[in-house]
Amino acid sequence: MLPLASSGSKVTPRHHGAGYSDGYPRSKTFDISPHRYQPRSTNPAHRRRTQSLVRIGLVAILFLLVLYTFSRGSSSSSSGGALSVLSLGLLSSGGADFELETVRYHDLSNVQGTARGWEREERILVCVPLRDAEAHLPMFFSHLRNLTYPHHLLDLAFLVSDSKDNTIGVLTESLESIQASEDEAMQFGEISIIEKDFGQVVNQDVESRHGFAAQAGRRKLMARARNWLLSAALRPYHSWVYWRDVDVETAPFTILEDLMRHNKDVIVPNVWRPLPEWLGGEQPYDLNSWQESDTALALADTLDEDAVIVEGYAEYATYRPHLAYLRDPYGDPDVEMELDGVGGVSILAKAKVFRYGVHFPAFSFEKHAETEGFGKMARKLGLSVIGLPHYTIWHAYEPSVDDIKHMELAQEQAEKEKAEKTRKMKESFSDATGQWEKDKVELQNIAAQERKKEKEAAAAAAAAGDAGAAAGRVANGKADPKAAAGRVQEKAVRHEELEGGKT
Ligand SMILES: *[C@@H]1O[C@H](CO)[C@@H](O)[C@H](O)[C@H]1NC(C)=O
Repeated sequence: MLPLASSGSKVTPRHHGAGYSDGYPRSKTFDISPHRYQPRSTNPAHRRRTQSLVRIGLVAILFLLVLYTFSRGSSSSSSGGALSVLSLGLLSSGGADFELETVRYHDLSNVQGTARGWEREERILVCVPLRDAEAHLPMFFSHLRNLTYPHHLLDLAFLVSDSKDNTIGVLTESLESIQASEDEAMQFGEISIIEKDFGQVVNQDVESRHGFAAQAGRRKLMARARNWLLSAALRPYHSWVYWRDVDVETAPFTILEDLMRHNKDVIVPNVWRPLPEWLGGEQPYDLNSWQESDTALALADTLDEDAVIVEGYAEYATYRPHLAYLRDPYGDPDVEMELDGVGGVSILAKAKVFRYGVHFPAFSFEKHAETEGFGKMARKLGLSVIGLPHYTIWHAYEPSVDDIKHMELAQEQAEKEKAEKTRKMKESFSDATGQWEKDKVELQNIAAQERKKEKEAAAAAAAAGDAGAAAGRVANGKADPKAAAGRVQEKAVRHEELEGGKT
């Protein structure tokens, strides 16, 4: 078996169906022909191939000797098996290799991870933990589609845990749709969905998740979930692992290349979030990326063995330099900063980091857990852990319970003000009608008084005994109310003019 182990077959995932493996089109699931998977760096590979051919030759001679010895004394049944083994080494691409169908050979010297991995067809395992993430998935898939790193070199691994919504349904639909894209460049490599519940120590609402008391337990559970996902999905042919939260709102399409170019073992961007205007417009989001400080180390010494320090809470004042606070919007995005703890929103790590045994501690590791413990553990192994203070991606804004209260109050206030305004408007309108009514009544009074005066005058004339003159005056008096009405009309017109002038 030994000679075959270095026969040059770099990558042979077995359940890849049709399509691509490591960027090379493939028809069979397994092939040990040394000509198929030629590594790009030809010199060492060529040397290895020559060595392996020599070794194959040696083994063949050995077998022939053994065969010769045995066939002299015993039956010929053993010779069949020996011949088929021989044919494997010497006539490899024939149909005789089915006996090794379950054996995979990997040359990990080609999957170290380099600065320009996309040119060397380095595969990235994209790990995405999901929990009640249905609402965020459309945005996440929009990000995936927009990634400029060659999609066929990206293997996707999702962990769906403790979800009450339809995360799994939406995820499956989205994956089916993207893999059925007419544009083949859209389609991703191998995809794994892993379902496992880890139980929840707290509710998933924003307040509970970010409350201080809940942090340690929550982080340990998240760590467990990440480790499960990674150990289930990492294959020997992966050069890189990219961890990405589903609720990132804005990120450059070139983020994988941008991070990879730094050629670090672990690297993270700065993570901020947009805020409503009344909260200042923007805010540092991920406080888990930091450099160790003396204050924090001294604090760690005072804590219980199982304690977990979490950042961003008054309870643990660590005075650490945080990646988030060092952001300059106009700064050079390539500036690097050494980190001890990292946040998990977007981590690009060489796969070898995990192969060394670095993981997400689900226990207190140097008083830290999950991604912060991961950063610390990587440092302990002498690996590089880097953050980019001026290269920023934006997390979605989820209003906290306080924010929601504030917004509700603000809305109530606005509604009250609106109601007040309409009430005032109505009042001033009914004021106007009231005035009009008053005027009308006044005018009617005036008219009535005029009529009264006429009647009195008529009565006085009648009393004077001139009936004829009186009758004439009564007839005249009848016209008089008309004159009064004319005056009323005049007043009404003047009133209207007045109103028009007001408005
Ligand atoms: C992806 O690209 C399209 C087209 O440029 C753009 O409209 C969309 O907003 C992008 N998606 C994300 C999540 O940035």
